[in-house]
Parts: sequence; C-alpha cells; structure tokens
Amino acid sequence: MVTASSPVLVFDSGVGGLSVAAEIRRRLPGLPLHYLMDSAGFPYGNKDDATLVERVLKVCAEAVAEHQPRLLVVACNTASTLALPALRAALDIPVVGVVPALKVAAAASDSGQIGLLATPATVNRPYTDNLIRDFAVGCQVRRFGSVELVQWAEDWLACGREPQSLAEHLDDWLMRPQPVSHVVLGCTHFPLLRPMLERLWPTICWVDSGEAIARRVAQLVGQQQVTEQAGKVMLSWTGDLPPAEAVRSYVASL
Ligand code: DGL
Repeated sequence: MVTASSPVLVFDSGVGGLSVAAEIRRRLPGLPLHYLMDSAGFPYGNKDDATLVERVLKVCAEAVAEHQPRLLVVACNTASTLALPALRAALDIPVVGVVPALKVAAAASDSGQIGLLATPATVNRPYTDNLIRDFAVGCQVRRFGSVELVQWAEDWLACGREPQSLAEHLDDWLMRPQPVSHVVLGCTHFPLLRPMLERLWPTICWVDSGEAIARRVAQLVGQQQVTEQAGKVMLSWTGDLPPAEAVRSYVASL
C-alpha cells in the first residue's frame, strides 16, 4: 500500500541519475526519494546486454523488496534502452525509464544537425535506431559513445575535478562536417557537466530528459499522498565502497 512515506526509488549505475533526481525534487519537493547507485556494477556503458539485463533485474528487485517504493525510476539510458520490458514484467510497481530526448531535439532544430552523446552501449542499441527512425525524420543524427565522459562526470561530482580534455574529446565531432545545433545528452551523467559544455560550446543547445521524467513521475504520483516537505533524499549503493563525501553532501543538498 502506498503511504505518504513510500519513496520513489531512483536508480543508476553511479551519480548520473542524480541529474534526474534533482529534477524530480524540484517539481515534487514533498515526495520522498531514495537514490540507489549500483557502484559495484559501474560502469554500465561497456557491458554486454545479457550481463547488464541480469544485473539490473537483480539490483532493482532486491532494492524494491527492501525499500517498498511506490515507483521505480530507471535514471539510466543504458539500462532503460535495454531492460525496461524485463523490469516491468518482473516488478509489480510502475517503472519509468529514461531514453534519449531525440524527439525534442529534432523538433527544435532548424538545421536538422543533431548529435547524440551517450554511452557506447546506448548509441549502438536497436532501440536507439528506432528512436532516430521514428522521431528524427529528415535530420542528420551523428552519434558518439563515450565512456570517458561518464567517468569525468563521476570525478566532477566526487572531487570537483573539472575534465581537462573535453574540447579535444568532442570538438571535431561537434563541428565537422557541419556544426550541430542540438546535442541530446543521452546519458544521465552528462547533464552534470552542462556548465562546462555550455561554456565551451555556447551556441549549441544541450537537451536532456530530466524534466520530462519529473513530469511523468508527477503524473503517476497524481493524487497519492505526499508530505509538505519530504526531508532528506535517502542514499544507498551496492558493494563495500561508500560514495565520496562530496557525493553524499550533494545528495543531502537536493
Ligand atoms: N548514467 C548511465 C546512462 O544514462 C550510464 C553510465 C554508465 O554506467 O556507463 O546511460
């Protein structure tokens, strides 16, 4: 039974899903949130499909049994573009996933030059091929799979270390043969680097799915009970190594 204290469980491999948790928090400050990072399984973006589905199912099923959430948000594109059907079949609560916001970028771009920046797994998925085919008609979508950016976002949150090689890593891809107008941040880690991306490439629009997910959660929570002020976001992780102090403070500040 859903009570005022039933949390929404927000799940990712690492700190990326915090970009989604922050949007949910902004929209629904009275909704209890529990953030789960699969630190022992990190990173997801270079795992093979069978290993990843099995891992995500196990970690989410155990967390749902333990924390009794009212709904699960899979705040990870790499997991969502693969494991949503299996999760929905296995769990008896609503499951919200996050997928690259290609439709939004395609609708907003005048030039039709769009970049999809995600993990190697996400850029190569048939799910992503279908999104591009169905929602980016007439656009030129170029894809870039980066494990580096995921790690840089982790480092930025954990120890405030700014990535040093962003320009070198992305400039060619963003600018040639023609500059992109919009980049879909198809990994939840990447909005955490938005200030640096905007500083380096101020003319590009960086599009993520955080706000849309928060809207969807608000719809599903609907008339369910929430409190005026839900207190701190709960945090848990897999494995023996606790998240860095700065990550815990970031979560506490949401
Ligand atoms: N944050 C995740 C995503 O949205 C994946 C990061 C990783 O573990 O590779 O895809």
